[in-house]
Amino acid sequence: MHSHMERILWNQDQISLRVSELAAQIRADFNASSPPPVVVGVATGAFLFLADLVRRIDLPITVDFVRVESYGSGTESNARPTISFDLKLDINARHVILVEDIVDTGHTLSRVIAHLKSKGASSVSVCTFLDKPSRRKVRFQLVGEGKFYRGFECPDYFVVGYGMDFAELYRNLPYIGVLKPEHYKRSYIS
Ligand code: PRP
Ligand code: MN
Ligand code: MG
Repeated sequence: MHSHMERILWNQDQISLRVSELAAQIRADFNASSPPPVVVGVATGAFLFLADLVRRIDLPITVDFVRVESYGSGTESNARPTISFDLKLDINARHVILVEDIVDTGHTLSRVIAHLKSKGASSVSVCTFLDKPSRRKVRFQLVGEGKFYRGFECPDYFVVGYGMDFAELYRNLPYIGVLKPEHYKRSYIS
């Protein structure tokens, strides 16, 4: 365990098992989908989960990314995020599976869903590894026949690892956990 971690909430084996289960559900639900669904990751946090997930979805799919700026810093996200890096692919009339590492207030997800809808997606599903419903400020709405998949419900801690950062660090940890309090005080980058 990294010396900055106070405790681990989900280890590599638990993450791996759950990712496989989610991939199996998605595979079953999108088996008959034509054209292939578009898996859209929200950079940066979703990069590891997306990479693990798509390797286990044994179907034709396409992959793309969006980036959202919250203009927030530290541990609070912002109420009015903007799309700062857009899709490469045309998603008009396509089924989109939006992939996130975590849904907290719901602002990021709501913003991205509205964007995908405006680009003509025929459905938008959401697959988030963690969900923190206790922190929700806005309800997001799926589009069309979209489905909601989540790995785990997350208790109200600021978590890092498996794509999730504090001040851009710790994303590369292969597990998810909570930092010791002294490491939430200082930011090394920005
Ligand atoms: C984090 C996380 C989600 C979002 C969730 O991203 O990856 O995208 O916050 O918070 P919300 O539900 O309150 O909007 P962040 O904005 O920190 O960017 P990052 O993915 O680059 O870390
Ligand atoms: Mn993010
Ligand atoms: Mg972040």
